[in-house]
Amino acid sequence: MSLLIKGGTVVFGGVRSQVDVLVEGDKIVKVEPAIGADVSTVINAEGKYVLPGAIDVHTHMQLPVSGTVSADDFFTGARAAAFGGVTTILDFATQSRGESLKETAAKRRLEAEDKVCIDYSLHLGITDLTDETMAEIPVMIDQGYPSFKLFMAYPELALDDGELYAALKTVSGAGGMVGVHAENMHLIRRFVRTLLSEGKTAPMYHEASRPPFAESEAVSRAIMLAGETNSRLYFFHLSTARGLAEIREAQQKGLPVYAETCPQYLLLTRDKYKEAGFRSARYVMSPPLRGIEDQSALWSGLADGSLQVVGSDHCPFRTVQKELGRGSFDRIPNGGPGVETLLPLLLSEGVGKGRLTMERLVEVVSTGPARLFGLYPRKGAVMAGSDADLVVIDPDKEVALSAETLHMNVDYTLYEGFTLKGYPVVTMSKGKVICSNGQFFGVPGGGKFIPRSKAAIKKDL
Ligand code: URP
Ligand code: ZN
Repeated sequence: MSLLIKGGTVVFGGVRSQVDVLVEGDKIVKVEPAIGADVSTVINAEGKYVLPGAIDVHTHMQLPVSGTVSADDFFTGARAAAFGGVTTILDFATQSRGESLKETAAKRRLEAEDKVCIDYSLHLGITDLTDETMAEIPVMIDQGYPSFKLFMAYPELALDDGELYAALKTVSGAGGMVGVHAENMHLIRRFVRTLLSEGKTAPMYHEASRPPFAESEAVSRAIMLAGETNSRLYFFHLSTARGLAEIREAQQKGLPVYAETCPQYLLLTRDKYKEAGFRSARYVMSPPLRGIEDQSALWSGLADGSLQVVGSDHCPFRTVQKELGRGSFDRIPNGGPGVETLLPLLLSEGVGKGRLTMERLVEVVSTGPARLFGLYPRKGAVMAGSDADLVVIDPDKEVALSAETLHMNVDYTLYEGFTLKGYPVVTMSKGKVICSNGQFFGVPGGGKFIPRSKAAIKKDL
């Protein structure tokens, strides 16, 4: 099977070039101007951009939360991802108490295996730091799991500071990287209790219970622990200007600290919690939505390189699932849909509105994540030898976002009323066109687990 993408503008490696892309089997074999080849399929990309497929390093498919399970499974979620130009997801295998990391990873892979229709990999979530878990960390890193998520929030998942210190030391000693959910759970627990005791039970109080300083305090504590243990450190879903200031300061001192933000923190504000009735429960996620000043700080952080990644934190719950928290905001399942809108939102609201260049967009949703998480140059590149995971963007295509036209398994979008300009029209996974002009051609189980190498993790982005 050979395929030629002809006449497009390829954006990769900080430049854009008028080149064709020749694909044989599942690999890119040539990227050159005016390739003349006898191929079975030609995709005419004139007037369009050709990018390496987006890599969403933060998804939660079929995740059990608060007595329910996130609404996209590995098939529906990966299919929605593909419609949005995402060709690789990094999901999580999160340890249950008493479980070995090996069991955790194997169980999660079984859940994904027959369903996932794009390639995927897994971060390991450590919640039970026993001696056995510590001993397993280097083994799991060598088996293709070089990144971890440690929780400073969610009491049932969180590690204490001593455990964080020990985990950081062991992971970094074995060549891996720790990522944290940075929010101070002790502060949050107290604020939740106080708000509920005052009868403040509506969704809007979720935000009041998790103020910006609960994030920035945890950010600065994690940086301190990473510095003391000589560790690389990644922040998932950073939401505040104050947290970003801590990260910048650490980076200026030369510490290997990296961070991701998400479209919801770039484009929505806490005003959403004022929406009438229980509707605002759809915006209940952790960290919560913040202010306009946080948004502008995060956009600047992306543009100037202090933030390296945009991930979606896709963790969707249908309205009926959000209802579980009617009467007590702390029981609303946390999370929102986003894997399908990650790249389109950045194209339209980032590049289209002059906040990001197209080159920087490719860096923050594809090449940067690939380098940071050990997938490069197999993924995140438009180069001979890389997987043919590609997305063709029509810069003029306009799409009004709505639950009816999107493919995530939810009955709303967080971006009601957004009309985007610039949208993926073809998505290719390992040389196969899996989405084209609104039609899906992928198959459940067509995606594979990608073991990642610690050696491929890039230290300086
Ligand atoms: O509210 C969120 N973000 N839910 C997903 C789990 C997490 O903390 O990433
Ligand atoms: Zn988190």
